[in-house]
Amino acid sequence: MLNRLANKWILITGASSGFGAAAAQAFGAEKCRLLLGARRVDRLEEVAAQAREAGAPAAHVRALDVTKTSSVDEFATWVRAHTDKIDVLINNAGGALGLDTVAQGKDEDWETMMQSNVLGVLRMTRAALPLMVTNPGSYILNIGSIAGHVAYEGGAAYCAAKAGELQITRALRLELSGTGVRVGTIDPGMAATEFSVVRFKGDDTRAKKVYEGVEPLTAEDIAETLVWVASRPPHVCIDELLIKCTDQAAIHKLHRRKTA
Ligand SMILES: NC(=O)c1ccc[n+]([C@@H]2O[C@H](COP(=O)([O-])OP(=O)(O)OC[C@H]3O[C@@H](n4cnc5c(N)ncnc54)[C@H](OP(=O)(O)O)[C@@H]3O)[C@@H](O)[C@H]2O)c1
Repeated sequence: MLNRLANKWILITGASSGFGAAAAQAFGAEKCRLLLGARRVDRLEEVAAQAREAGAPAAHVRALDVTKTSSVDEFATWVRAHTDKIDVLINNAGGALGLDTVAQGKDEDWETMMQSNVLGVLRMTRAALPLMVTNPGSYILNIGSIAGHVAYEGGAAYCAAKAGELQITRALRLELSGTGVRVGTIDPGMAATEFSVVRFKGDDTRAKKVYEGVEPLTAEDIAETLVWVASRPPHVCIDELLIKCTDQAAIHKLHRRKTA
């Protein structure tokens, strides 16, 4: 089968775990060249080594904190030392912090969620665009969430952040009309990654409870979807894709099996 992705340059933010790390493997297996960023560089090095083993002809890593403009701009300068074009930008870095009601919410958690999920996407996209608008057929893929579509108790700030991501995607799709640059959002429901451990600030027991009796999506499910979306021909743009595990009929309707 024709491999439209071979040798393409794929930039993935938040590549040190979860969806981002799985995407590095999946694009590596498609013989893509990888530019990987996150705060934990040791983890990135492991991900890059595995991606090279999977088939990536190149996998470069650098520290990236999307909550800081200086870090994003330094990362973009480093990217330009490797390539003058980006084929796929995956704005994946982000996550949730806490499950507090608005009454109990903490400024620090709210600010971090807005910084990473909303402003991080804007910053990284602004920095990457000069390497994409000259490259028709390139693709900006943002990782949103079911939380951007439906609100839930304790999710006010995270839901607001992911709703922000969805609207950024839509605005960009309009702004880039005519350039040939594609823009889309992949919006997963419940997936088993480090997401809940981070949300509950290292409380593994609480994190495990989220998935009890449920068969959630895996990071590999999302990575496979990203590869499929990115490998559509240049005239095809998957704009918005909501993807949930079969057990999650709706945000408040989870099928949980009895566990022993
Ligand atoms: N798992 C789910 O149920 C689910 C569902 C819908 C959407 N999502 C979204 O999917 C994306 C990936 O999450 P995941 O589930 O794969 O969780 P994860 O395993 O916790 O991965 C999150 C990634 O984001 C990176 N990151 C976080 N803050 C960052 C920052 N300021 N700068 C750079 N990188 C940062 C982390 O790396 P470092 O800590 O090393 O920086 C890590 O690589 C997130 O945007 C999340 O909101 C997750």
